Amino acid sequence: MSRLIVVSNRVSVPNSQGAAGAQGGLAVALNAALREHRGIWFGWSGQETEEFTGHLDMQRNDDVTTATIDLEPQDIDEYYNGYANRTLWPLFHYRIDLTEYDRSFGEGYQRVNNRFADSVLPLIEPDDLVWVHDYHLLPLGSLLRAKGVTNRIGLFLHTPWPPARLLVSLPNHEQLVTSMLQYDLIGFQTHEWLESFLHYIEKELGLTINPDGSIDYEGRNVQAQAFPIGIDFDEFVEGAQSAAAREAHDRLRASAGDRKMLIGVDRLDYSKGLGERFDSFGRFLTDNPEMAKDVVLLQIAPPSRELVASYQQIRHDLERKAGHINGAHADVAWVPIRYVNRGYPRDELAGFYRAADIGIVTPLRDGMNLVAKEYVAAQDPDNPGVLILSQFAGAALQMADALLVNPHSAEDVSEAIKRALAMPLAERKRRHKALLKSVREENVARWREDFVNALYSKEKVA
Ligand code: G6P
Repeated sequence: MSRLIVVSNRVSVPNSQGAAGAQGGLAVALNAALREHRGIWFGWSGQETEEFTGHLDMQRNDDVTTATIDLEPQDIDEYYNGYANRTLWPLFHYRIDLTEYDRSFGEGYQRVNNRFADSVLPLIEPDDLVWVHDYHLLPLGSLLRAKGVTNRIGLFLHTPWPPARLLVSLPNHEQLVTSMLQYDLIGFQTHEWLESFLHYIEKELGLTINPDGSIDYEGRNVQAQAFPIGIDFDEFVEGAQSAAAREAHDRLRASAGDRKMLIGVDRLDYSKGLGERFDSFGRFLTDNPEMAKDVVLLQIAPPSRELVASYQQIRHDLERKAGHINGAHADVAWVPIRYVNRGYPRDELAGFYRAADIGIVTPLRDGMNLVAKEYVAAQDPDNPGVLILSQFAGAALQMADALLVNPHSAEDVSEAIKRALAMPLAERKRRHKALLKSVREENVARWREDFVNALYSKEKVA
């Protein structure tokens, strides 16, 4: 078995906070993948240093060796807060209205990608597979090639890939996408994002897609393919049965009394559709006054990327919205929205999911969404809750037995809430059984194996 060198912006060793809603799906999935595979996880420490030295901080945890570098304030500003999260993230989530284009961001992005390439280079041995992750590091493969790396290198993108018509608004888009053709394998979460990518390649770069989905470019062959990510099912279910989960479940249920509970767990990000979710819930309360006092929405939303203005704005908007809806509907002994800006340990979250009658996952656009899968995995099969899922989450393609909704339509979501609350036990069990099967089978181990095998089967660069 070849060694795996995983490279991602964020390196996050296993800890008690590790659930998809709090940490982001990437860190949770990579922890699980690396535990199974001998290898090294390389990336940014999350720390700042006055002057970049390239010093590698190597740490061995139980099963995962991490190697991290610190970055300069200007790097963090232009690369992480800038190009990654002010430019690519909004653009890749179809939000060109929020996308900022600034040459200094592009320069910082290239500079940091170069620093990543220089720093990871000495760790790479001849037979290693190099697996790069996400939008922070799209050009990394080409920079490693330029430094003489002939190993197999793969890229997996955890976000959506936008339609060509949106992507062309990015200055130097051809350069960025062409640099990706130096990978051996490019993985996407769903066929939808894969098709958008291939369409761009044909339309904007004028290249031909081979029948197997691969592309020949400058004497190399790069394969593009969909690999839907999953959760570490067994580990999550084990956590859901822990004492901490049971205690969290009982605490939450006791606090809700006889009321039905909806739960949402998301990083505080505009792509998650939280404002629309609050509006939909408000709409439900208005349209169903007879049921209004019998439901409560628990929204857990740990803050994210707090130095980026659009994140400050969404936080402000949500505070206003939650305050407005609560002010309009609350009673002395009941508040309809419990809005919590902090993360919870994974086991506790599993208990919360199990305590909730409805899991509400309504992103406007999402590469996959692992909260939807965690919610299903946490349910009691004899009395499961109902998953309401946005049709615009990658997960919707695998989870047709959820109640699929258009998150932009408050009426649509409000009706789905009503339907979920009234759903008979037999239908809940039938839907849950089907969802559970796909969550169990299409798990993170399957994702890792499929990607690694596909990468391994590529010819090594001559
Ligand atoms: C998404 C991205 C990840 C990222 C995570 C958390 O899941 O795809 O790459 O790590 O969000 O965001 P952060 O900026 O805190 O790393």
